[in-house]
Amino acid sequence: MTTLDAAFDLLQCPSCGEPLAPADGGAECGNRHRFDRARQGYLSLRAAHKGKGAPATGDTPDMLEARERFQADGFHDTVAAAVLDAVPESASGWLADLGGGTGWYAARVLDARPTLRGIVLDASAAAVRIAARAHARLAAVSADVWTGIPLRDASVAVALRIFSPGAAAEVRRILAPGGRAVLVVPHGDHQRELQHGLKLMRVPAGKAEEVAASIPDARLVSAREVRARLPLSIEQALDAVFMGPNAFHQERSTVRAALEEWVAPINVTLAVTVVTLELP
Ligand SMILES: C[S@@+](CC[C@H](N)C(=O)[O-])C[C@H]1O[C@@H](n2cnc3c(N)ncnc32)[C@H](O)[C@@H]1O
Ligand SMILES: [Zn+2]
Repeated sequence: MTTLDAAFDLLQCPSCGEPLAPADGGAECGNRHRFDRARQGYLSLRAAHKGKGAPATGDTPDMLEARERFQADGFHDTVAAAVLDAVPESASGWLADLGGGTGWYAARVLDARPTLRGIVLDASAAAVRIAARAHARLAAVSADVWTGIPLRDASVAVALRIFSPGAAAEVRRILAPGGRAVLVVPHGDHQRELQHGLKLMRVPAGKAEEVAASIPDARLVSAREVRARLPLSIEQALDAVFMGPNAFHQERSTVRAALEEWVAPINVTLAVTVVTLELP
């Protein structure tokens, strides 16, 4: 049985909330809403929601490649280590990585926590295609987690939300008793040198205090600040810009021309808080 087959224990229909069961190589709920399983091994649970417009489409393949290179260069290793520290060694059951992209964080946690299985949910089909191959104990589902997470109530032991969107009430709903939410929130000065120097669109900073209070009945386990100055080459600085939403508004060649006026290495601030909450 693949991890995606096993994940039917926790999947629910994004249209009506009924449990999903395997059907004709895809999935179906009791109300006959049908969903496809892609050849590449992920399930597509994208559904339009009344009054909420088309589902989000998420990051493009170019953005994902930039993020994969940046992560492979080690620049998010300190964040990944703090995320892993927030997941108890005794954790067992399911981990859900919300807006989990290519599953880079989920795969690292699963490597170190053999009693967990994981599921990545992301709006980007290109991302979940990669996530479906990222780890043997990781399932991948394309879904809009902003309009509602297609997982059953109290079904996961750990929820990750790393640089990604998602409503706190939904995170609360899917967590089992004693479950943990690990939420990575960028500070106002995250990547500020690039932001200011290139006059980029401001990526709205999260407010760690607000995130820490976002699940009222949860206990705040820790709010750990992770800070570093990353010495980036021009290509790495380009990846730092183009793995985020500025990719939708900027040309790589234009930004490269601007960066070539700078002296490498370009020191860029990494500043996030890893907030860990635990349900009673
Ligand atoms: C900044 S990336 C972070 C990815 C991953 N957590 C990581 O750090 O490697 C944000 C991710 O959220 C996804 N995303 C954006 N809006 C979404 C939505 N409404 N539902 C699900 N995923 C979404 C994007 O496709 C992208 O993969
Ligand atoms: Zn349904």
